[in-house]
Amino acid sequence: MKILFVASELYPLVKTGGLADVAGSLPKALRELDKDVRVLLPAYQDVKAQLPRARTVAELEVLGQPVRLLADHVPGTAIPLWLLDAPHWFDRPGNPYLAPDGNPWPDNDERFAALCWAGLQIALDRAGLGWRPDVVHGNDWQTGLIPALLSLEPQRPATVFTIHNLAYQGIFPAASLEKLRIPKALWHPEGLEFHHQISFIKGGIVYADRINTVSPTYAREIQTPRFGCGLEGVLKMRSERLSGILNGIDIDKWNPATDPWLPQPYDRDSLDDKGVNKRALQERFGLPQEPIIPLIAFIGRLVSQKGVDLILKALPGLLELPLQFVFLGSGDSDYEHGLLYWSRRHPDKVAVHIGYDETLSHQIEAGADLFLMPSRFEPCGLNQMYSQRYGTIPVVHRTGGLADTVEDALPDRLPRATGLGFDHTETGALQEAVKRGWLLYSQPDLWRTLQRNGMDKDFSWRRSAKEYCRLYLKAIADRRHA
Ligand code: ADP
Ligand code: GLC
Repeated sequence: MKILFVASELYPLVKTGGLADVAGSLPKALRELDKDVRVLLPAYQDVKAQLPRARTVAELEVLGQPVRLLADHVPGTAIPLWLLDAPHWFDRPGNPYLAPDGNPWPDNDERFAALCWAGLQIALDRAGLGWRPDVVHGNDWQTGLIPALLSLEPQRPATVFTIHNLAYQGIFPAASLEKLRIPKALWHPEGLEFHHQISFIKGGIVYADRINTVSPTYAREIQTPRFGCGLEGVLKMRSERLSGILNGIDIDKWNPATDPWLPQPYDRDSLDDKGVNKRALQERFGLPQEPIIPLIAFIGRLVSQKGVDLILKALPGLLELPLQFVFLGSGDSDYEHGLLYWSRRHPDKVAVHIGYDETLSHQIEAGADLFLMPSRFEPCGLNQMYSQRYGTIPVVHRTGGLADTVEDALPDRLPRATGLGFDHTETGALQEAVKRGWLLYSQPDLWRTLQRNGMDKDFSWRRSAKEYCRLYLKAIADRRHA
């Protein structure tokens, strides 16, 4: 099976969130199942700098502009990687979507339409690469036009579209239609039109042979008004083609026994050594080195999706308990300031690092006792899985992938439990769950059970990659019968 995988970020080359982790891992896992998978990514400035040996393999015209395809490999693998080299769109520093002022690049419509048009040319073997995929797998709105544009091509391959986050939709004014060369046949309310605007994500939802999200629960949730972001109707209409496949994690990179960034590696049978990592973390952040005080961590984008406002509201109450907090993240400045305020007020209890820091994120996962993920919605979420692998107990809002990957330590389920959950995004519910964690922490045997349950779980990509293969086969069959 030949698969063209298209994404707008890919770890370790460019990352703003979990999509990059998925794009960095899933193709690898597919290749290990002997699939011929190849990846298309924009040649952002930072990406090109990391791949100086990428060579030109094709010259195309996209949206009336001459562009090039560069070829290299996904770092550390034999997976062919094509980079869409269009300097006027992608030769820019920093975040792939945002200008230095924090606003989206004003030409994001053109930038990602260009990615889609290039994807179409590769998919139809019109780029002169001598390779034709059976399936094109696009991810999130940046690739949403691919299934739409391909739907008009009689000789097209099958299409799969993965929704990693429905809240980001790629909505642009209808005035861009011509500039983006969107065929008229796609411009109607059952097509790309969304309240008189162009919706890139609708292109994937309406036209892909198969749609999936990154957890079964989120696949159900997005068919309801609460989580559907206005697209619940369209999603419901396509529910027979919509499924959920949980993400895996990179179990080599996230392995507490071999993690080179940890002061003291450990495994399920040497959990006392985890304490060394806790001490190191406390020392780094100037927190009292008290082993008996549970250390609670948060890592992530500081945005409303992640429930940061809830944490800020819950903190005053939680600070009355003997707890320590470490936060790592960046995002909305109100949230950044809110967290910094509490760290200044309680430097012995709250530590904050604003920024993005890969190494520190591993050290926090290893050093913390509990990990907070009160996300309002969470398509899959990766940190709750990293946490379980590191013997760190997640405290999660039972939604999306969090509901699907964390077994709540309810009294009758303790022997299998791996974390703590709560149902309502309310301050009291979060506080209650943290308190339950605090109580469990004071029972070392029980705590060890929870830790080991989590560490024993299989979060490998192999399992998910097999599910994707089944989905690709279904898409190919749908395409044949269409
Ligand atoms: P999302 O994609 O919605 O941001 P995920 O949980 O799927 O959420 O993935 C987030 C990824 O980004 C994880 O790998 C997480 O460790 C990482 N991450 C987020 N913020 C930071 C940060 N400030 N420093 C280091 N890693 C971060
Ligand atoms: C999105 C979601 C996150 C998911 C990630 C990778 O960014 O917010 O829940 O884990 O994509 O699929």
